[in-house]
Amino acid sequence: MPNIVVVGTQWGDEGKGKIIDILAPYFDFVVRYQGGNNAGHTVMIGTKEFTFHLIPSGILHPGKEVVIGNGVVVDPEALIQEIQDLRNKGVDIGPHNLHVSKSAHVIFPYHKISEKIREEESIGRIGSTRRGIGPCYVDKNARVGIRMGDLLYPEVLKEKLRRNLKEINLILTKIHSLPPLEFKPLFEKYKEYGRILAPYLKDTFLILNRAIERGKRILFEGAQGTMLDVDFGTYPYVTSSNATAGGASIGTGISPIHIDEVIGVMKAYTTRVGEGPFPTEIKGELGDKLRNAGPIGEYGRSTGRPRRCGWLDLVVLRRSILVNGIKRMVLTRLDILGYVKKVKVCISYRWKGKEIEVFPDDYACWNEVEPVYEEFEGWSEDISKIRDYHSLPAPAKRYVERIEEMLNIKIAMISVGPRREEVIIREKLW
Ligand code: IMP
Repeated sequence: MPNIVVVGTQWGDEGKGKIIDILAPYFDFVVRYQGGNNAGHTVMIGTKEFTFHLIPSGILHPGKEVVIGNGVVVDPEALIQEIQDLRNKGVDIGPHNLHVSKSAHVIFPYHKISEKIREEESIGRIGSTRRGIGPCYVDKNARVGIRMGDLLYPEVLKEKLRRNLKEINLILTKIHSLPPLEFKPLFEKYKEYGRILAPYLKDTFLILNRAIERGKRILFEGAQGTMLDVDFGTYPYVTSSNATAGGASIGTGISPIHIDEVIGVMKAYTTRVGEGPFPTEIKGELGDKLRNAGPIGEYGRSTGRPRRCGWLDLVVLRRSILVNGIKRMVLTRLDILGYVKKVKVCISYRWKGKEIEVFPDDYACWNEVEPVYEEFEGWSEDISKIRDYHSLPAPAKRYVERIEEMLNIKIAMISVGPRREEVIIREKLW
């Protein structure tokens, strides 16, 4: 399988970062195709922790090249900081192994301001990460966005920024009685970002297509998850890009004919950060227990917010499997379920007397559905040291196999802890 996409099948935070880190050695390029620094994950190697928001974690592997594709939105300040932080930790990173698309859109301070206004004045509050991601994609689609490549040409940047500030300043001053943004300091700052990032800015679609022609292997790293996809998620409680597998093609310029497989990553239970429907959410003590169990608790990597926790939802997963074309899954955080006595799995929903098996498009029902659960005996033991599937406690194996049966997929790998080596491989993914 030369080129594969790794996608989150729930509401993000399934542990994709670690899986990418395990798979990276078998690929030549690791590529991000959507989202921005709203994403975040930590890779633990021994006692060292590396945090990633924009740069694919594949950079940790010598000889690999990583790409921030055209579908990503980039906050240049955050990118420069991330490059610096990784360098300070001894990671080899430079224009030889990091390529940033000239077509990726740039996040400006006015994107963060308009998001703050939306969220705080409750004009459609969705609990975003407030990194300006949504408004940046709005500008992209409204055809007034500024792209990374524009930062290389001061005259172009000047013209586009002037035009945008004219509009945003009218909104800030006339509608919100806020002070306007000044052109000069903003222009100078972004021109300087352009100067710093110039060696990294490239026609990444070309680099990647040429690499494919030479038989190189590409690993596509999805950020967020299927249920946060702007088309297939719980709209409007979603992010503003296509986190699903289709986004990989659009967000990089690699034709779908070159994508060979889509691997899904699913957590052994469900979490979500921010607002929005979550049928299997567990409120109260048990939810808190899941949140705080294990070596790394369920708190947002980018914002530190506590994640809402709930039981595994097969209705959600069936939607993800269809939309992404998943045949093989990685199951993560199975160790965490060792902390609870009984484990439940939602196998369908009931709504107005109907049984629902695949998460439907109808917004009207999402907060009203009643989950139908199947209950499992827990295993109440620490499984984080286990590396061989057959050594898992019988109830844990029953859990895994019942999920496979009900979803008609293969669980190829099981993660039982945050470290690289804490994994059970049942079938090779590469
Ligand atoms: P935005 O992406 O900042 O616009 O936020 C939109 C929604 O997506 C909010 O509910 C966020 O909490 C959620 N979100 C964005 N990025 C991530 C992520 O990496 N993991 C989990 N949730 C995320």
